[in-house]
Amino acid sequence: MYFCHSLRCMVENIAIPSSVSGKEARYEILIPQINALVTGEPDLIANVANIMAALKDTMAFFWVGIYFVKNNELVLGPFQGPVACTRIALGKGVCGTAWKEKKVIVVEDVDTFPGHIACNALSRSEIVLPIYKNNEVAMILDVDSEQYSFFDAVDEKFLGRIVKIIEAL
Ligand code: SME
Repeated sequence: MYFCHSLRCMVENIAIPSSVSGKEARYEILIPQINALVTGEPDLIANVANIMAALKDTMAFFWVGIYFVKNNELVLGPFQGPVACTRIALGKGVCGTAWKEKKVIVVEDVDTFPGHIACNALSRSEIVLPIYKNNEVAMILDVDSEQYSFFDAVDEKFLGRIVKIIEAL
């Protein structure tokens, strides 16, 4: 969505005042803006791309992106951050495990997760959430941090809400 004034048209900015410091408060402000961002736009890739940008811009993540389930493997979709692994097999790494076991996985220290796939050596902790379409896992939301134990129940709750937005697209 964008708005125009005089001769210029601009996309709506995602804005969280810098005075809002707690991540729960930041998610609370961000999620309605993400809803507004995708309202009226039917294209899944465009919407997911903008959601990843909104998250990266506002939440101090190192990497945030989507993997799509395609022909029985995960294939990289829209993301923000350093270049990443393009394909991940079922059951491999954190993403392939979250897909296979159909569950959210929070990893406090990636070096302790058997088979963790290090797309970037700077990544220290990670949260991965399955995204469903027609009762099947259709996508994976993967978020990485450069800090150990960065993700907790707050991220699980609010990223879960973003998953619901993507499921409804
Ligand atoms: N660490 C993930 C791979 C994807 S990257 O982090 C972007 C995994 O173990 O599945």
